[in-house]
Amino acid sequence: MQITKVVIPVAGWGTRSLPATKNIPKEMLPIFKKPVVQYVVEEAMNAGLTDVVFINNQYKKIIEDHFDYNPSLEDTLERAGKLDILKEVRAVAEMVNIISVRQKKQLGLGHAVLCAKEVCKNDPFAVMVGDDLMFGMHSGISQLLDAAKSENMAVVGVIEVPEDKVNRYGIIQGEEYAPGMYRVRNLVEKPAIGTAPSRLAIVGRYVLLPEIFHHLERVKPGVGGEIQLTDALQGLANDKKLLAVRLRGQRFDAGDWVEYLTANIYFALHDEELREPLVRRLRELMPC
Ligand code: UTP
Repeated sequence: MQITKVVIPVAGWGTRSLPATKNIPKEMLPIFKKPVVQYVVEEAMNAGLTDVVFINNQYKKIIEDHFDYNPSLEDTLERAGKLDILKEVRAVAEMVNIISVRQKKQLGLGHAVLCAKEVCKNDPFAVMVGDDLMFGMHSGISQLLDAAKSENMAVVGVIEVPEDKVNRYGIIQGEEYAPGMYRVRNLVEKPAIGTAPSRLAIVGRYVLLPEIFHHLERVKPGVGGEIQLTDALQGLANDKKLLAVRLRGQRFDAGDWVEYLTANIYFALHDEELREPLVRRLRELMPC
């Protein structure tokens, strides 16, 4: 199974992050020195994915622009002799091929993935949610690509969440057939606390086969009136064609303020120059 494409939905309104996201896409908010979505694209590139399919809306074009050249800026940097940062700025334009698809109405994540049907055609593809960050020894998407290729099946990434957070996620029920690998039998989108079948929550990493489009086309609006990807995945689970892999590593949902701010600190703490002064300032701020 050869996989080169990754669908990255970025067309949502980011209402949880307002007013910051009134005119700046949530996926373009900076985490330390880079916008959120650049981390996602870097994870894809490092996993060998070469073609990024952004599902976007008409007001968020700066996302595609970020992955393109900026001749005026590059000229200025060149003339100023700022060659290191020039190299870094250009590298962003050369990371991956960008294919852009419009989601004309924001009908949900499932609908956003369905918008990629004509681009993906008969090929398997990865999906990475544009505001979901994962870092670790093995990147989230490469763990899924390995599993999908060896089992020839669609795979979702899951993490274990505390009991009082299950109502924020799609939750799976399945049997563990190898350490951290599950055959998925059922999925529930945002179950009420106390009713979830497990604590294994779907995060924004998937490897899907084109048959998902067949299921997406039949899904009715679910939780929040949106076309949910989780509901289409249930179709695969019913046919015993869906696996889940428990992902290792750190994960941050950039649409949640605590997570967003923690991600900034996480990166700053990994920066040689910033770590010490940052810790000093944070200590000053912490009430004792
Ligand atoms: P979220 O539900 O986290 O994003 O979707 P949102 O709807 O933008 O944000 P809130 O909940 O109102 O704060 C996860 C990802 O899917 C994209 C979003 O852009 C985000 O990156 N998305 C969501 C779409 O592309 N289309 C949609 O219809 C919904």
